[in-house]
Amino acid sequence: MSDNIYLPQLARVAYIKEEVVGERSIKTFRVEAVDGKLFDHECGQCAMLSIFGRGESMISIASSPLIKEYKQFSIMRVGKVSSAFHELEVGDVIGIRGPYGNNFPVDDWRGKNLVFIGGGCGLAPIWPVITTAVAQRNDFKNITVFYGGRSPRDIMYRTELEKLRGSADVHLSVDKAEEGWDAFCGFVPANVMDKAPNPGNAIAITCGPPIMIKFVIQNLREIGFKDEQIYTTIENKMKCGLGKCGRCNVGKDYVCVKGPVYSWAELKDLPAEY
Ligand SMILES: Cc1cc2nc3c(=O)[nH]c(=O)nc-3n(C[C@H](O)[C@H](O)[C@H](O)COP(=O)(O)OP(=O)(O)OC[C@H]3O[C@@H](n4cnc5c(N)ncnc54)[C@H](O)[C@@H]3O)c2cc1C
Ligand code: FES
Repeated sequence: MSDNIYLPQLARVAYIKEEVVGERSIKTFRVEAVDGKLFDHECGQCAMLSIFGRGESMISIASSPLIKEYKQFSIMRVGKVSSAFHELEVGDVIGIRGPYGNNFPVDDWRGKNLVFIGGGCGLAPIWPVITTAVAQRNDFKNITVFYGGRSPRDIMYRTELEKLRGSADVHLSVDKAEEGWDAFCGFVPANVMDKAPNPGNAIAITCGPPIMIKFVIQNLREIGFKDEQIYTTIENKMKCGLGKCGRCNVGKDYVCVKGPVYSWAELKDLPAEY
């Protein structure tokens, strides 16, 4: 074992799925250790993934900690490194180091109602919590999932979301009406307001574009959720992931260590640099 904390472990790409195509395409990857096993993680933690010669990015681990054989990541193509990920093929070897960051306090939420609210690629960071709660269904009360994309073609994990029905109430939405779409039309915060989930004994977990998170939190508070009942995860630019370079600093926090998971009660007191 090397003493170099920046040295990644080698992982082989075992599976690739095109989730969303077009301008902001999303691909899902599953990677397995080349030798031995990959590290364990908790819901909400991230890993630094590297493509040798192209760069390194912090990405949320999108698989449940209950799955030990592989780790799943869903990556939106936006720039240099994410484009390199989209060029990968099954069998390619990448670097992985982690796990980094804090986690959603899932154990504290046993016996509660869980309300998940995701938009765009923001379903990936909360997917481990959703799938862990569904796998341990008897430990939780009602599970409700809101998820929206711009159009039906932008809905990621579509098959997996449909499979949740029976274990969870699933409310999908698209921004604009389109032929053949018979679920909610409108933005995700409007769908939340329309269904008005009961705040009693509940925790709301949200992730998506910053503008969506802002209005989701505003609407949740209007419905009666308290700041400490609302959790989110933030995506500050990161370099080391280890609390050493200062790249992710917000107020008094290095988000890579103290975050990326925050309750709204904690986050609202940080400067709005995230
Ligand atoms: C804790 C954490 C978890 C993350 N989890 C994920 C994840 O699960 N999936 C994922 O795809 N990314 C995730 N990211 C973002 C990821 O680390 C990179 O920032 C992102 O992939 C862009 O890198 P790039 O080199 O391709 O783009 P760059 O070349 O750095 O940026 C190119 C352009 O894209 C813009 N841009 C950068 N990031 C985003 C973004 N997230 N959305 C929209 N525009 C952006 C930049 O402002 C710039 O204009 C996470 C980041 C953090 C800190
Ligand atoms: S990314 Fe280096 S301190 Fe957080």
